Amino acid sequence: MTKNNGVFLTLEGIDGCGKTTQARILVGNLVSRFGKEAVFWTKEPGGWPGGEKIRELLLEHGMQHPLSELFLFLADRCEHIRREVAPALSSGRIVVCERYIDSTLAYQSWGRGISSEKIEDLFRWCCFPVPDLTFWIDLPPGKAYHRVSRRGSPDRMEEKGQSFLENVREGFLFLSRRDPERIVSLDGNNDIKTIAREIERRVEVFLSP
Ligand code: TYD
Repeated sequence: MTKNNGVFLTLEGIDGCGKTTQARILVGNLVSRFGKEAVFWTKEPGGWPGGEKIRELLLEHGMQHPLSELFLFLADRCEHIRREVAPALSSGRIVVCERYIDSTLAYQSWGRGISSEKIEDLFRWCCFPVPDLTFWIDLPPGKAYHRVSRRGSPDRMEEKGQSFLENVREGFLFLSRRDPERIVSLDGNNDIKTIAREIERRVEVFLSP
């Protein structure tokens, strides 16, 4: 794993936890402070030109074998890092990415049962940069599931049901306890503004000299 010149921020959580809403607020704040050029907002899977094809394979068709699913997420990430994230970081920009390595561990290991050690070996092999700060929005799976089902047709990942999300949440919990310096856990039961303020505060602390 490599060190960044810019700032690499990621947002994580189970489906329906409110990541995109928080990413939008965070990006808005960063843009008004540092200007549009200084900030790069992206997401996984599919955050690069061509990436929508892998995203569609994963989310619309779905993979039957857990390893083909894992390898597609990793292939997507290799391209996303090479084409988008690494250039943004090396030119000193602030990257805000919805979902990243912690999603792979939580979903493919805790959710799909692949060894987390093996997945982390692959991360090292792929030289994925480690985020500077990760915000995990911890919403109870029951609530998240309810939100996602109300949103309309669930994608293949979301179809897996509430017990799958319970396992994924356990994964995020484990990861945030293992790495509390990097992963900030936020109570997803709080209202949007409260969560946004906490994210802003933590980013502020990180950015201050
Ligand atoms: P997405 O639709 O982008 O997020 P949300 O539904 O939370 O707005 O999520 C894509 C799905 O892919 C989501 O269910 C999580 C899953 N995923 C993995 O299983 N592994 C990964 O490495 C990534 C990046 C996502």
